[in-house]
Amino acid sequence: MADGQATRPLNDRTKYMWHPMSSPMLTHNQTPLIIERGAGVNIWDADGNKYFDAMSGLWCVNVGHCRPEIRTAITDQLDQLEYHNSFLNMTHSKAVELAARITGLLAEDDMQRVFFSSGGSDAVESALKIARLYWRIQGKAERTKFIALENCYHGMHFGGTALNGTAISRTAFGPTVADCYHVATPNLYRNPWTSDAEELGEICAQQLERQIIAQNPATVAAFIAEPVQGIGGVIVPPANYWPRVREICDKYGILLISDEVVTGFGRSGAMSGARGWGVKPDIMCLAKGLTSGYIPMGATAVNSRIAQLFESTPPPQGLLLHGYTYSGHPVAAAAGLASLDIVEREDLPGNARIVGDHMLNGLMELRDYAHVGDIRGKGLMAAIELVEDRKTKAPLAPTSQFGNQIAAICRENGALVRAVGSLLIFSPPLVSTTQDIDILINALKVAFETVDAKLGAAMA
Ligand SMILES: Cc1ncc(COP(=O)(O)O)c(C=O)c1O
Repeated sequence: MADGQATRPLNDRTKYMWHPMSSPMLTHNQTPLIIERGAGVNIWDADGNKYFDAMSGLWCVNVGHCRPEIRTAITDQLDQLEYHNSFLNMTHSKAVELAARITGLLAEDDMQRVFFSSGGSDAVESALKIARLYWRIQGKAERTKFIALENCYHGMHFGGTALNGTAISRTAFGPTVADCYHVATPNLYRNPWTSDAEELGEICAQQLERQIIAQNPATVAAFIAEPVQGIGGVIVPPANYWPRVREICDKYGILLISDEVVTGFGRSGAMSGARGWGVKPDIMCLAKGLTSGYIPMGATAVNSRIAQLFESTPPPQGLLLHGYTYSGHPVAAAAGLASLDIVEREDLPGNARIVGDHMLNGLMELRDYAHVGDIRGKGLMAAIELVEDRKTKAPLAPTSQFGNQIAAICRENGALVRAVGSLLIFSPPLVSTTQDIDILINALKVAFETVDAKLGAAMA
């Protein structure tokens, strides 16, 4: 462990930065954890402490940190062409190659064309605009409505904000985009109906159908969902849910948008999350695992139904008046190609399945701790939902620091995990081994023992 001297001047300057998703008042008076270095599945803070990165940065460093292949691809590209746009009829070779690679990897999902952007929120925004334009081109401009799931997360632009499934994320910036509606998410642990997975899948699918009918199907543009809800708590839907959703969307002609920003390229154990449920959506939103976070990039992929319509409609109706300066950025595209090489060569979706099972089994060993309510996951994404009372499932008090305390002790024991309210969230790199996961599980065991012992002592 280093002595920390080197970081003092840096710590003095941390107040100039506002942190995403946090209170400027609180962070202004705190010393942040400053991460300085990464290699493989590990990262080191400014004091030299090493952690297993059980967050993959932010669900994105799927191939592991500082892979030399990606570095080489990036620097080679910087030597060749650092930037050019891809507007109108211009582009450059890396964007062309990457679009072809993505459609190749997602051919089984019938993803035919790719529209590039700079991140996940952009990918969602592009999907929403493409969906509305799809209907307008066909003379159905009244199909404007979007339906999403409670608890969902679709990024931070105004479209995504309007869709996001927690009220606070919408109301803080309201009024948001009109015409966004929500239906129940199939959460087996918390729902008012049933503990039977299949029955729940059917009930929640019917909720969607009811909402479509209530809205008037001729006014609904698309239903959007994450194949496995990520930040909303790693809600893994029952196996029948997505196939039923596809059926219902088809029945009313509604587009199905799969937000694959987290699940795309392997995290949930298949090349796409939707494929894991045996379903082909009309549009996919991609980011994070596309470049493994080495350079920011987003992409929106569309199927043949959408591609054919746009490619046979002349302007002005068929004009896609949407794009970003950094759409298809050459350095990001080079990073994406190198990252996807690794995803394929090392079969990371397969590894996510195998090591993900190991992680879920390990987490299950924690089920007897007093505040562990639910443990769930698919592939290399998992969550523990902490509760006040396991029998009644009473949630932790909103002010509870239990999750933060567990995360802090995990950190002392070499694993960086994410605590969000009552949730502990795990999304390690897809290159993790079972031994890496054991570091996480052991750190969690120590953390639960320690916090439970402290609580016990406090109550005695
Ligand atoms: C499902 C989903 N969609 C969209 C986004 C937004 O992506 P970004 O933060 O890159 O804008 C996220 C980010 O976590 C996400 O999890």
